[in-house]
Amino acid sequence: MTQRFSVPRGTADILPDTVANWQNMERIARDYFQLFHYRELRTPCFEETELFARSMGQTTEVVQKQMLRLQSQKEDESSPFALRPEGTAAILRAYIQYGLVKQESLSKFFYMGPMFRGERPQKGRLRQFHQMGVEAIGAGTASPFLDAEVIALAVNLLKAFGCNPFQLKVNTLGSLSDKNQFASWLRGNLESRLNQLEPELQQSFRANIFRILDSKDPAAKALIRDLNFDGNYLSAESREYFAQVKSALDSLRVEYTVVPQLVRGLDYYTHTVFEFSDPSLGSQDALGAGGRYNGLARQLGAGIDIDAIGFALGMERILLSAAGQQSIVPESISYYIISLDEAFIGKAFWLQDIIRRQGVSCDMSYRGGSVKSLMRSANKSGAKYTIILGQDEIIKNELTVKIMHSGEQLRVALDQIEEFLKNHR
Ligand code: HAM
Repeated sequence: MTQRFSVPRGTADILPDTVANWQNMERIARDYFQLFHYRELRTPCFEETELFARSMGQTTEVVQKQMLRLQSQKEDESSPFALRPEGTAAILRAYIQYGLVKQESLSKFFYMGPMFRGERPQKGRLRQFHQMGVEAIGAGTASPFLDAEVIALAVNLLKAFGCNPFQLKVNTLGSLSDKNQFASWLRGNLESRLNQLEPELQQSFRANIFRILDSKDPAAKALIRDLNFDGNYLSAESREYFAQVKSALDSLRVEYTVVPQLVRGLDYYTHTVFEFSDPSLGSQDALGAGGRYNGLARQLGAGIDIDAIGFALGMERILLSAAGQQSIVPESISYYIISLDEAFIGKAFWLQDIIRRQGVSCDMSYRGGSVKSLMRSANKSGAKYTIILGQDEIIKNELTVKIMHSGEQLRVALDQIEEFLKNHR
């Protein structure tokens, strides 16, 4: 038997019936991005693997286990490219590459598109998924108000999409040196109980202690629960900065919970980090996340410090969370033409072109047949008007136009059709 193909595991086709939900979400998002003055930046779907390794972190789950590397055609040549697992690194790469730091003091970008991670697929977790996100980048632009603006933009979006009630968790990691203090504080507190963790997490203890905080492993969770996160590992400036972020969020009436264990799974974060979750989604409940990454530009070769903050929302998860709220509106058209005899198809085809030239949407049946069967297609198309071409209409150079919502039928002279279209679109 000839092989039949299926969509690859962990990816999905978006069929026309649901594409309207995607377009709706994208339209709402574009309106909000404009409202908040973020401009679109599109980067390729693959980049040098090293860009992701250096930004997200060599020891992170995504870089170690989920990178989808591209294989070169030449077998002896290992390609240094990987499909992008996220958008932040590429946006900052472009920002540095084009010297945007010299062009404007604060650059505000948004992006939407497919991302790729070689994860074990399950509900809400795909290998090709879609993110929409923003990044606000500029030297010396770190401000608690900007942090609050970015978080508030995400809150606005999730509400506008009609997501289920969601939680916003926030925390601060402090500056790069505070983060090192935080790591040593954790090591000091966890060292004596390390043997309670599985071997992989014991390795993380040395390589990247924050992975223990991020772990879903029950033993790790139990250890963390016992810790008293007093924030003493943070400098006074970092604590003050975070206090200002919270008060800016309060002034915007954004509700949040401070979760001192929240560190996020990617290495580049400093200061404010945040995550949105919808508990009704089960194990993959993160709708989106983000944070500040003031140290990353230097790490990627910018040569100077450039402050930055952003978030990304998972679009598949938004649609799952908003599923109850969406009205799937069939994309309807204005006119549908049916021909009661094959011989009239040519005339219908010509008429369809006339109608479309007036900027009015139109479709037709390319088969002749009985009124009953053809009207079924017309109904399915959602057309407002159906034009019927039968023997009598052809002889008299007229059309029968059926107004679908009332069932009323009109006769229109063929040479009057353009006039008719002006009032019936
Ligand atoms: P992230 O937490 O890795 O952050 O991903 C953000 C969101 O993308 C997640 O909360 C989730 O909704 C969605 N997501 C991630 N992986 C998958 C998957 N396999 N299937 C479906 N959805 C998924 C970032 O990507 C950072 N770049 C966010 C950021 C922007 N930080 C600063 N700026």
